[in-house]
Amino acid sequence: SPNLQKMEESSLLRRENCRAKGGAPGFKVAILGAAGGIGQPLAMLVKMNPLVSVLHLYDVVNSPGVAADVSHMDTGAVVRGFLGQPQLESALTGMDLVIIPAGVPRKPGMTRDDLFKINAGIVRTLCEGIAKCCPHAIVNLISNPVNSTVPIAAEVFKKAGTYDPKRLLGVTNLDVLRANTFVAEVLGIDPRDVDVPVVGGHSGVTILPLLSQVKPACTFTADEINYLTDRIQNGGTEVVEAKAGAGSATLSMAYGAAKFADACLRGLRGDAGIVECSFVASQVTELPFFASKVRLGRGGAEEVFPLGPLSEYESLMDLINSCNKLFC
Ligand code: NAI
Repeated sequence: SPNLQKMEESSLLRRENCRAKGGAPGFKVAILGAAGGIGQPLAMLVKMNPLVSVLHLYDVVNSPGVAADVSHMDTGAVVRGFLGQPQLESALTGMDLVIIPAGVPRKPGMTRDDLFKINAGIVRTLCEGIAKCCPHAIVNLISNPVNSTVPIAAEVFKKAGTYDPKRLLGVTNLDVLRANTFVAEVLGIDPRDVDVPVVGGHSGVTILPLLSQVKPACTFTADEINYLTDRIQNGGTEVVEAKAGAGSATLSMAYGAAKFADACLRGLRGDAGIVECSFVASQVTELPFFASKVRLGRGGAEEVFPLGPLSEYESLMDLINSCNKLFC
């Protein structure tokens, strides 16, 4: 509507004024797949982020409704909805950060790889739009199997001549949230005080929590290590089975994605010391893509950290073999 157009323009003006005065710039964020189980709560959480000045919600169904709903929250970001392929380019033009939870989720009995055929096509189309309309945006890719959708996105961007490995980040921090939560339960402490690096991939045995590097420093019995590793690797399946056909993790994932997007925006703003685990192009192992701790900055994942010393249990060879089997 003309009013929304006006609001977006005035929000952009505010952002420019703010920038001119050296204040927080306010970023433009798009969520693709915004009407889904993850997309809706994620839209709400991103609307609450003070770093966001414009929020574009795109989906092939129901996005105008979600946008109208979220737009009534009295926070700063101006919200606009975009429906269907003909509006994809408008949704993407000028974005600083694009978050992609579009695709189908798992049902009981399915692995993340079963999703590959459908989600690969969806991600390809969306990334072609990004390459055309906002080639410098940071991309947070949530659609599963992340182990394969990230390499696919990289190929699309390479073909378009816009590929910057630092700007393409697979969202794997739900594995970290789960690890922090389950470890805190075992230690009997607050999950907010726990930091567990989780490396490798984002599917079953490719998810490797580095329990030898948990902060605060602690030790686990062999039984605890087996229990925790198994529960963290199968946290997604735990939710899929509990939802019994109604989808996979949505609320915890939306929380994780909002937290990750906030870290990316703080990096874009130039904050120092922003470190998160993410599945990125990597030289940490022989694998072309790998999840590990990365430092987020103005250019995206500006530094990929080495894994540090691993325990015997955290065998890198086993992990590389499992990841190799799963890469497409
Ligand atoms: P959902 O089915 O509830 O929502 C997906 C949304 O994507 C729907 O609104 C659908 O209309 C939309 N969509 C489908 N095709 C599209 C297209 N071409 N363009 C734009 N939007 C399109 O699924 P949910 O639960 O939100 O999961 C989304 C994805 O996230 C799944 O692939 C799921 O496996 C993945 N996921 C990833 C996690 C991670 O840790 N990275 C954790 C949990 C889920």
